[in-house]
Amino acid sequence: MGMKVLVIGSGAREHAIAATLLKGASVDEVTVAPGNPGMELDGIRTTRIDPSNHAALIEFMRSSNYDWALVGPEVPLMHGIVDDFREVGLKAFGPTRAAAQVEGSKDFAKQLMARHAIPTAAYRTFTDYEAAAAYVMEHGAPIVVKADGLAAGKGVTVALDTQTALDALEDIFVEHRFGNADLKVVLEDFLEGQEFSLMSFVNGTAFWPMPISQDHKRAYDGDKGPNTGGMGAYSPVPQISDETVTTAIDTIVRPTVKALAEEGTPFTGILYAGLIATDDGPKVIEFNARFGDPETEAVLPLLTSDLGEGINAILNDEQPTFTWRTDTTALGVVLAADGYPGNPKKGTPVPAIETDADSHIYYAGVKASKHHETVESADSASPTTSLVSSSGRVLVYETLAPTLKAAQAKIYDTLDALDTTGFFYRHDIGAKALQAVVEDDKEQ
Ligand code: AMP
Ligand code: GLY
Repeated sequence: MGMKVLVIGSGAREHAIAATLLKGASVDEVTVAPGNPGMELDGIRTTRIDPSNHAALIEFMRSSNYDWALVGPEVPLMHGIVDDFREVGLKAFGPTRAAAQVEGSKDFAKQLMARHAIPTAAYRTFTDYEAAAAYVMEHGAPIVVKADGLAAGKGVTVALDTQTALDALEDIFVEHRFGNADLKVVLEDFLEGQEFSLMSFVNGTAFWPMPISQDHKRAYDGDKGPNTGGMGAYSPVPQISDETVTTAIDTIVRPTVKALAEEGTPFTGILYAGLIATDDGPKVIEFNARFGDPETEAVLPLLTSDLGEGINAILNDEQPTFTWRTDTTALGVVLAADGYPGNPKKGTPVPAIETDADSHIYYAGVKASKHHETVESADSASPTTSLVSSSGRVLVYETLAPTLKAAQAKIYDTLDALDTTGFFYRHDIGAKALQAVVEDDKEQ
């Protein structure tokens, strides 16, 4: 009998995780809590339990005989869901509350890196406006302002002039945009270079890196517009050399994992390193204590081994196996509701996108339209026409292809031919890789 796994979360990341778990022979059943109706169209079970209700999740695991849970988003991790599960003898894949601080507190992460000489931007932490503003004036621009704690990717301002930095500080300290308890702000040096994401499966001091990926954080083409949760991703990232990745593993991932273990907060789960390849080697922008979104939707499709078996081995302190395609690119583009990230428009019918053996739709901010709820059999209606937008990032459309160019062509040929009124997407996911190829050719 195969395993039964509970996936906690509701986005495209959790859709991709659930679909990948179900692909492996070791897993028979996956339920996502709370999931979304888009996943249900894909044959994935959901249960409307809120991730903050740990007791109800525990009750579900017990009454349905689930083997373990995988925690997708950061908030339940910060709230100690893994600790609560462990306390009652249940297994959950993810870090404890203490270890999850590597994401939850930028100050914690920065201090850990400083103590262990892990390369990152130089920084100072401030707790009041006056001192922070004085530092901005003395340091000058460019400078990066980060609100400590979780601000869903929106707490960071890359200030190219001092006024922008002062405005960001005012937002935080005076307008209390991110709440007003225990305010801390990290001011750090601006790093220049290409960003990439390096995620690893971690168990104490052992870790297994995944192929690297590249997210696109700004809302609009050409890295313009506000920061978002991420507008698209692809993997691998050919313009980041294997040598840079090896350096990142040796100087960042290994010492971070070791430091967390040595300091009494051993990490189990996914450690996500958000890195910038500077002229001076890779440096850390941020750590996340979970799978990245949308990176996961472009990395897990490359996995050729059984995800559930690998994670189960880690949860049993055994040696896992993870193997990856190396001859294929995965590229995913986010379809977002107009108005995202500020005020996304809700209730717009989600366009139907046809998929094939290589492509997938991973749903995020969708809900069933009233029409769908009254239809007796789900297959009596074209599946995707019954979904409407319910938040900013609506879905990720992802494909595998032999080359990045082919993946891009396939995704954009499809998206550009659709009526996407009420939605938008970036047209340049993966463009930095192709740009780098053009520059290489010129140099030769
Ligand atoms: P974060 O939420 O920390 O990932 O930051 C959001 C985005 O801000 C990153 O993806 C980068 O594009 C940018 N960023 C953050 N820190 C820096 C830095 N020190 N130098 C340059 N860009 C940064
Ligand atoms: N894509 C960045 C994140 O998951 O935080």
